[in-house]
Order: sequence, then C-alpha cells, then structure tokens
Amino acid sequence: MTRAPEYVAYAHMDQLHELQRPRSDARGELNFILLSHVKELLFRAVADDLDVARKALARDDAAGACLDLARATRTQRVLVTVWESMNGMAADEFVAFRQVLGDASGNQSFAYRALEFVMGNRPAHQVEAALRDGHPMLRDELAKPSVYDAALQYLARQGFAVPADCVAKPPTQQHEPHPLVEDVWLEIYRDRDRYPEAHRLAESLLEVAYQFSCWRATHLLVVERMLGGKSGTAGTDGAPWLRAINEHRFFPELWTFRTRL
Ligand code: HEM
Repeated sequence: MTRAPEYVAYAHMDQLHELQRPRSDARGELNFILLSHVKELLFRAVADDLDVARKALARDDAAGACLDLARATRTQRVLVTVWESMNGMAADEFVAFRQVLGDASGNQSFAYRALEFVMGNRPAHQVEAALRDGHPMLRDELAKPSVYDAALQYLARQGFAVPADCVAKPPTQQHEPHPLVEDVWLEIYRDRDRYPEAHRLAESLLEVAYQFSCWRATHLLVVERMLGGKSGTAGTDGAPWLRAINEHRFFPELWTFRTRL
C-alpha cells in the first residue's frame, strides 16, 4: 500500500473529506454541511484562544491575555464572514433539502455551547442539561471560571473593589450584572493613564463580546432570509426566538457602565 503524502497524513485530510455526506441531491446541501463544519471548528479555535487568555489572567499577565483575546477576535471576524458563503444559497434551494435535517439544529452544538460557557453565558437550565447528559467538553468547561470571571478576579487582585460574591462564586453559577462592577469599569475609563493595562483588557474583552453579537445578528439575518417566519428545526418559533437571544450581551457591565461615563 502506498503511503499517503505527509500533508494528507499529518492532518488526516482523507478522513476530513469523508465527513461531508449530503442526504439529498439538492445543490446547496454539500455547502451547507461544509460551512457547518467550518463554523464548528472555528468555534473551537475561538474557545481555545479564550481559554489561553483566561490562563494568562490567572497568572496576572493581562498583556498576554489581551494578545489572545485579539487572536480570538480575528477568528470571530472570519466566523461572521462565513455567513457570506451560506447566503449564496437561495431560499428555494434550502427548502429543497431542509427536510433531511430532521430536528437537527445549531442549538445542539456542544462546541458552540462550550464557547458560550467560556464567555460566561451559563444560564441554570443550560448548566443543568450539560451536567446531566452533556458532552464531556461542557462538563470540563463548567469546572472553570469564565473568561469574564477570570478578568474580574484579576481586577480584584489588582486592588479594584470587585464585590466578593462576584469573585468567589462557583463556576457553574453565572455572573449576574452588578452595579459595583460597573463602578470598577467606570473608574478604569475615567483614569486610563493610571490603569492602562485594565483599560486595554476592557477594550479587548469588549471587542470579543462585540464580535460575538455580530455573529448572532448575522445568523438572525440569514435565518430571516432562509426561513422568513417559519419555525426552527429545534422547535422554536425561529427568527423571534433568535431576536430575543440577540438582546443578550456578554460581559454586561462593560456595556452598561458607559452610560455614566
Ligand atoms: C440556512 C441556515 C440556517 C438556518 C435557517 C438556521 C436557523 C436556526 C434557527 C431557527 C435557530 C433557533 C433554534 C431552532 O429552532 O432551530 C438556530 C439556532 C442556532 N443555529 Fe442556526 N441556522 C442556520 C445555520 C446555522 C449554522 C451554519 C450554524 C453553525 C454551525 C448555526 C448555529 C446555530 C446555533 C449555535 C444556534 C443556537 C443559538 C443559541 O443557542 O443561542 N446555524 N438556527
């Protein structure tokens, strides 16, 4: 048997190309699966960068954390742009194969859920489901503080008045917006010459949150383009459900404090 070229062997390219298996002959289905795979892998790439940023914060290396947050942001921009390729599919082309999806829906993606958990969106029902019968990746993630928890813990160690219950809570418990955390960000932005690292960290975190919201907003537009008012395969009412999700903001006080700036 001839040996596969090293390019193929190194990254298992032959196996990779066996994974896209359309269930219909419809024109758009192969691209739909390819893009779903690309997005899954990029979710993991972003989560990995955020994990490294979180570790840097744990050793008080804010500059290192900012580098990895910036790396995550680059990949997030690619994730937003990937929707462009999906939009090459006309709504009637999607209709031609949508039934083969059954009840498959992106909200069953454990890589996406892990990314939401790293970012700090850990609502009780998602946490319970993940701990009950979720992918091991999710249980591993829930044993760690979110990247926002890690940032607040870092700021507390730097002497900022972050409330004790925000820094000492169990990682399975979601951070809830707190007025005293808003005060901390306000202090940093009112005196950035005194707190340049904390200011840089805030801007880097905000960019990650901003790009995440761009992804959600673009997904909603794609859904309206493909489905109009139809319900989703996971049983939600589709666009209205996603519109409500779009209201959510990661790192909440980083958005709200600026009203007072
Ligand atoms: C034609 C393309 C797409 C349509 C029409 C669509 C539609 C929807 C709808 C209606 C929902 C709400 C849940 C439900 O009832 O299914 C949803 C959720 C979701 N979709 Fe898509 N989707 C598309 C492509 C994708 C792709 C390519 C991905 C990424 C791999 C993706 C990731 C997600 C995620 C992660 C959620 C859950 C969001 C959350 O829990 O906050 N979607 N999608």
